[in-house]
Amino acid sequence: MNPALTKIGDQMSNLTGVRAIMKDIVETLQSGGGQDLINLSAGNPLILPEVEQLWRDATTELLASSEYGEVVCRYGSSQGYGPLITAIAKDFNQRYGLNLTERNILITPGSQTLYFYAANAFGGYASNGELKQIVLPLSPDYTGYGGVCLFPEALHAYKPTLDIDAANHKFKYRPDFSQLSVNENTGCIIFSRPCNPTGNVLTEEEVRKIAALAAPYNVPVLIDSAYAPPFPALNFTEMQPVFGDNIIHCMSLSKAGLPGERIGVAIGDEKLIQVLECFQTNLCIHPSRYGQAIAARAINSGSLVQIAEQVIRPFYQNKFTVLENTLDAAMPKDLPWFLHRGEGAIFAWLWLKDLPMTDWEFYQLLKKVGVIVVPGSTFFPGLKEDWQHKHQCLRISLTGSDEEIALAMQRLAKAVTQVYQPTAVSA
Ligand SMILES: Cc1ncc(COP(=O)(O)O)c(C=O)c1O
Repeated sequence: MNPALTKIGDQMSNLTGVRAIMKDIVETLQSGGGQDLINLSAGNPLILPEVEQLWRDATTELLASSEYGEVVCRYGSSQGYGPLITAIAKDFNQRYGLNLTERNILITPGSQTLYFYAANAFGGYASNGELKQIVLPLSPDYTGYGGVCLFPEALHAYKPTLDIDAANHKFKYRPDFSQLSVNENTGCIIFSRPCNPTGNVLTEEEVRKIAALAAPYNVPVLIDSAYAPPFPALNFTEMQPVFGDNIIHCMSLSKAGLPGERIGVAIGDEKLIQVLECFQTNLCIHPSRYGQAIAARAINSGSLVQIAEQVIRPFYQNKFTVLENTLDAAMPKDLPWFLHRGEGAIFAWLWLKDLPMTDWEFYQLLKKVGVIVVPGSTFFPGLKEDWQHKHQCLRISLTGSDEEIALAMQRLAKAVTQVYQPTAVSA
């Protein structure tokens, strides 16, 4: 049967960003036969034994408690499970000297949902017909923002400036404040910090500047903290969460070992939280409560923060070091390759300046030498202007073994040397 779809139906039944190339990756892996393929494409965190044990222990406790029936046999409030909200308010008030009450917090089924609520509550067409933009101040950013708005024309991303350390083959993106425009047509602002795909951490000053630009227009700023402290604490550089009247601090428990349980958290002004909560009631009543109940236990006992800092962060930080050291040793010194500074998250981002083919073509070529990464052009949702740079980057996931990462980077270095060769010869 071929159902007639609405405009929204048509749009929402298309896969965006990374999801669109996952099909190709799955087919490559299935048809790989005996080929030894190193798959560094995944955004799925690895299962770390200590992390799995943490959730197993919390589940055992929950099963043995009288709370169990209340958690799984009853509907609850749309705002989320009370004990988890209380645990987060208490933890954040102590840790960051805040005055949060339960009314400042909303739990959602994963944080992707939260961006969907926000993008459509604050972005899209206002009742007077005006288009309210969803602004991504620093492109590239999380590919999932590309699919969250029912009116894709509302998404507007800004090109960054590049801070290049040529001698060391390193670089870092910075917001271009000379271009960034926030005005009465802005609905909301979203960015990830640390950033998926680049590992960039916007400085506190940059964050405050963005929030200050948005404040006079009452524009909410959603800071996607899926990799930030206090958990999963996937920052490799010192950073503190930034709070403020127009800031919605958004968290996810996915990289802290619970992606299957779908838990997102929004912390912000009561009025903003209420808007998002109503959206949630209409959409799904409330998120599932089992994951919330075990998360409350792990936060209250302090073990979640402890495991994040002592297990999760060093694990991925070490993977980044392996990748960086291998590239430094194996990549040709005279070619214009630049690794983004590894400030956090679970990815490395490589820019191959003047690459004599597109990122897609290079992705296909890498598959032939047994390495799967993600072409960078999928990470520029909302960036309308043509920019060569969009087709010169790769996202490399840190979710392989040390040996796999090192071997994959050696193969990549060889492929890079070969593809730049003709240009060098003809020059
Ligand atoms: C930056 C960022 N934000 C949001 C998400 C969505 O996470 P979830 O819906 O699992 O909370 C991800 C997932 O990879 C991400 O990398």
